This record gives sequence, C-alpha cells and structure tokens, in this order.
Amino acid sequence: MSKLVVANWKMNPQTAGAARKILRGIRPVTGVETVVCPPFPFLHGLGSRPGIKFGAQDVFWEPAGAYTGEVSAGMLQSGKAEWVIVGHSERRRLGDSDEAVNKKLRAALRAGLPVILCVGEPAKVRAKGPAAVRKFVGEELRRGLQGVKDLRKVVVAYEPIWAVSTNPGSSADRPEDAAAMVRFVKGKVPVRALYGGSIGARNAGSFLDLREVDGALVGGASLKPEEFNRILAAASGKVRDKK
Ligand code: PGA
Repeated sequence: MSKLVVANWKMNPQTAGAARKILRGIRPVTGVETVVCPPFPFLHGLGSRPGIKFGAQDVFWEPAGAYTGEVSAGMLQSGKAEWVIVGHSERRRLGDSDEAVNKKLRAALRAGLPVILCVGEPAKVRAKGPAAVRKFVGEELRRGLQGVKDLRKVVVAYEPIWAVSTNPGSSADRPEDAAAMVRFVKGKVPVRALYGGSIGARNAGSFLDLREVDGALVGGASLKPEEFNRILAAASGKVRDKK
C-alpha cells in the first residue's frame, strides 16, 4: 500500500503568498499520498495541485451555530479539505481533552471527512518505560475512538510529544521504538498508522522503510519544499537513508 505523508504547517507561514510559494515548491511523487494541512485561512486560496490533497489542522464538533471562532466539518468539506487532523499535542496543550478530541473525530466522520488522530506520550511518561507509554497511548486511543465503529476513515499518527521538533531538547524516536508503538496501535485498532516527530530528509527513510509504518506526519520540515520533497522521495522508496 502507498505511504501517506502529511504536512502539518501549524501556524505557518505568515502570508498567503508565502503559503502558495511553499506549495509550488512541492513535487508530488507517484505512489505517495500527500496531504498538506495549512492554516484555515489559506486552505481555500492555495489553488489545486495534482497529486496533493489538503487537510485542516482542527475541526469543531457542532455542524453550525453560535460558536465564535470555530470551523465545522461541513465547512471544511465544502472547501478543499479532504482530511482533518484531530488531537494534535499542540491542541491538547491548548485545552483539547480526550472527550473534545472524540467529539471532533466523530463529527468529522459523520460528515464523511477522513481523520488523522494524533496520540503520543509526554517525556515524563516515556521516562517510566515502555509499559507506561503503552498504557498512556492505549488510553488516548480508547478515549479518542470511543463510540466509533467504522474505522475505515481513521488514521492514527503516533507522535511522542517529546519528539516534536519545537519542544526543547527534542529528537526523533528510535525507528525500532516507533515501529513497536505503531504495531501496538495496530494491535489495538485496525487502522493505518503514521509516525511523527522530528522527521526530516535525513531520517525519513529509516521510518518510512519500516513495513508497519504507513507514513509520516511532518511539521517543521514540511515548510521547506526541498526537504519535504526528499521525504516524499523516501516514502516512495526512491531514496534510502544515508547514515
Ligand atoms: P515536527 O512536528 O515534524 O516539526 O517534529 C510534527 C508535528 O507536530 O506534527
């Protein structure tokens, strides 16, 4: 099956022009499903690019009404979004509980929008060892997917929080540990599972070459088209990790 590579631009870049420039620099690769998730205001104006789908970084659970500042799944779909990320650790840090993540996920699925559910443990849980990590991630999965029966439109991104590049002292997970967690996720729920956290051109191959890892969620490196293109090439199996 082809790999899925998701670009999470977070709150970047700062202008629509800069966003279009990044997009123009991306060269989609045959056989790699590529999804770009820009900030909401840029979603509609980015223009279409063959081989690139768009996604949103968040969604609200209600379909319409008095919810100042929120964006519904239907709105996303009526625009360009064909995917949505829910439960990113940066949203959880801003207050999204497991319950909120679950409501968002179910609202997206009700609207027919495929979802990337992010899970992953903080450093203090990692320090307690693999059993604690599995317990933590298992709970996030259970709570995030509560009441969801049809998992065909759900992808899980295992993204340990301490590995996200913007966190102090971060570094990518070890590929074998990421693979073990991806297997754990798949053992719990029959979904495609991605790894995310400090993926760049240099290390992408060592994650994407793993059979059980169905793709990558890429933050910082997805804002640099040349680097992102090398990640896409790694996902297509055209380049190998050079250590
Ligand atoms: P990073 O971010 O690739 O910059 O570590 C990943 C993410 O937060 O989705």
